[in-house]
Amino acid sequence: MKVKVFNNYQSICSKAAMLISKQIIKKPDSALGLPTGSTPITMYEKLVSFYEEGLLDYSEITTFNLDEYYPISPDNPDSFFRYMHKRFFDHVNVPEERVHILDGSTNKPKEECKEYEELIDKYGGLDLTILGIGENGHIAYNEPNSAPGSQTRLVELEEATVNSKLSGEINQALTMGIRTIMQSNQILLLASGKRKAEPITKTIKGPVTTDHPASFLQLHPSVTLYLDTDAAAKLN
Ligand code: GLP
Repeated sequence: MKVKVFNNYQSICSKAAMLISKQIIKKPDSALGLPTGSTPITMYEKLVSFYEEGLLDYSEITTFNLDEYYPISPDNPDSFFRYMHKRFFDHVNVPEERVHILDGSTNKPKEECKEYEELIDKYGGLDLTILGIGENGHIAYNEPNSAPGSQTRLVELEEATVNSKLSGEINQALTMGIRTIMQSNQILLLASGKRKAEPITKTIKGPVTTDHPASFLQLHPSVTLYLDTDAAAKLN
């Protein structure tokens, strides 16, 4: 695991956007695993600015989002489908047919998840997956007790995990599994703020355990963590 600590959130996002752009320039048809949540918001803003300034062309990439609430309509403003289009896909030139987001409105979740795994394989696997981390150590929506061999599937969410606007309404999600994520060629995990100091320390220094799914990243050959000083506060 490579750990880089930056002075502030903005720097994490700038560096993450730079790393992603290097990946795309090196391999224009890269398959990217993409996160949602509050942490990557500024990263997407910078990736959009690279396109608007004519610095980066997204026309050959393929994207796979980590997760989506279930059940949820893609029209719901709190869906990850809407988050991604509002913050990224509506502003850059990724062909819509190569944007893949688990369908929260499907009435066949098992088939949806199976097809997602087959699609990832069809594109040769994920070249680079960007992760955030939940306070309970979840990655994507792999909550504690997620099996290391888990694939894309329907999961139950812990109360604290669900976006406050949806709590009480939704308690499930479709998510890439731990194995799905671990098969990515390269992984970049972003964490900012004091709330992430504890989960980050467990991720890097704790035992590898299903109690803290992010700890499995210790077993991956190419993981980089971009942290700000608050998220890194308990490391030394
Ligand atoms: C959600 C997402 C994760 C994200 C996590 C942290 O659970 N499914 O992909 O990493 O929240 O979100 P935030 O970046 O808002 O702290």
